[in-house]
Amino acid sequence: MRSPADVSPAQVPAFPQPRTCPHEPPPGYDVLRGEGPLARVTLFDGREVWFVTGYEEARALLTDTRLSADRTRPDYPVLAPRFAAAVAQRLPLIAMDPPVHDVHRKLLNPDFSLKKSRAWREDVQRIVDECLDAMEAKGPPADLVPDLALNVPSRVIAQLLGVPDEDVPFFQDASRRLMQATEAGPSQAAGAELTRYLSELAGQLRKSGDGPGLMGRLAGREVREGTLSHEELVQISLVLLVAGHETTTSVISLGTVLLLEHPEQLARIRADASAVPAAVEELLRMLQVTDLAGARVAAEDIEIAGKTIRAGEGVLFSGTLANRDPRVHEAPDTFDVGRDSRSHLAFGYGIHQCIGQNLARLELDVVFRTLWRRLPGLRLAVPVSDLSLRGTGTGTVQGVNSLPVTW
Ligand code: HEM
Repeated sequence: MRSPADVSPAQVPAFPQPRTCPHEPPPGYDVLRGEGPLARVTLFDGREVWFVTGYEEARALLTDTRLSADRTRPDYPVLAPRFAAAVAQRLPLIAMDPPVHDVHRKLLNPDFSLKKSRAWREDVQRIVDECLDAMEAKGPPADLVPDLALNVPSRVIAQLLGVPDEDVPFFQDASRRLMQATEAGPSQAAGAELTRYLSELAGQLRKSGDGPGLMGRLAGREVREGTLSHEELVQISLVLLVAGHETTTSVISLGTVLLLEHPEQLARIRADASAVPAAVEELLRMLQVTDLAGARVAAEDIEIAGKTIRAGEGVLFSGTLANRDPRVHEAPDTFDVGRDSRSHLAFGYGIHQCIGQNLARLELDVVFRTLWRRLPGLRLAVPVSDLSLRGTGTGTVQGVNSLPVTW
């Protein structure tokens, strides 16, 4: 095994790397996979960081309090220039360490419990049905991204936060610009637009003392009582909006592609709807739409797998490769909807593990139960190789710009 000191910069692979197939890891990951559970990669700014590809090592490190998620730390690994923007650095929850992280998480937990998420089923089913009604009315063909994959999570988050329906198109557009901008400027501008909007909404809700959804609850109680500041509520809402939007969209669109490309696997869930929950876990494992299961910086030296992560070094968690660790999953590159893949790292692990995972699972479950029932002849209208990939090689969520389908 090579130690970082033995590796010249020219030999260290770059990160992020582009996918060439929307649902397969970048071809360059084969090399990283062969490096053992902890590899090294080079970022755009020339900095070398750790790349954790082993499943057990990832779980151990993601629960290690010596690693920090605080993006305002000067040595936090920045994946692309636009992530250096202040708006990305100061995000609550995802970019903060305890104790503040835990205070926010506790305030939000009631809205994301398994029980609460289950109570959403009827609403999610209605939203999915309405999207498919509209798609059927104007097609075939259709573009599954705007018509279903983007629409469902947007409407769910809007309802979760208590945002009026008429503002959803603005949300979809602004959050896409925030996530997808290649430069810091446009990303900051979109973040500022969303912040302004949410701030106005939070202000109205605080005055009225109530309102539907999470923002109404927090504005009416926590902000009024001073447990949470107005700015914190706005930032938390922004994080929920962005974190729950593109991710779920991509699992719906890429999941549809993966299933259509494996008709024998699709046949299993079409024959038996009770197979859908396990299939959703397998889609999450195989797709790992965030590519990374987290990014951290070491606050102290950490010994692991015969290596030393030095204080100040960046650590990236390759969910993509950890989910395909052959020590955990047999034939890890085989898509098998019947396997037990629930232990994947698609939602991360440890204190930052995705707060919206129950809701995301519910949305995916309803979509993948309903889609084939409503449109039994659904198929891609273009070859997979013609799909325009989104987010690839950018360090953000992996997906497709559009998904032409017919039925
Ligand atoms: C399939 C869809 C989703 C995927 C694949 C996903 C993935 C992830 C991952 C990998 C993390 C961990 C990041 C880290 O440790 O640095 C995370 C955290 C988070 N996710 Fe999700 N997510 C999804 C849906 C959602 C939804 C629907 C919401 C909310 C409506 C949401 C809100 C969050 C938040 C707030 C965090 C930060 C939690 C914390 O730091 O305590 N996500 N998600």
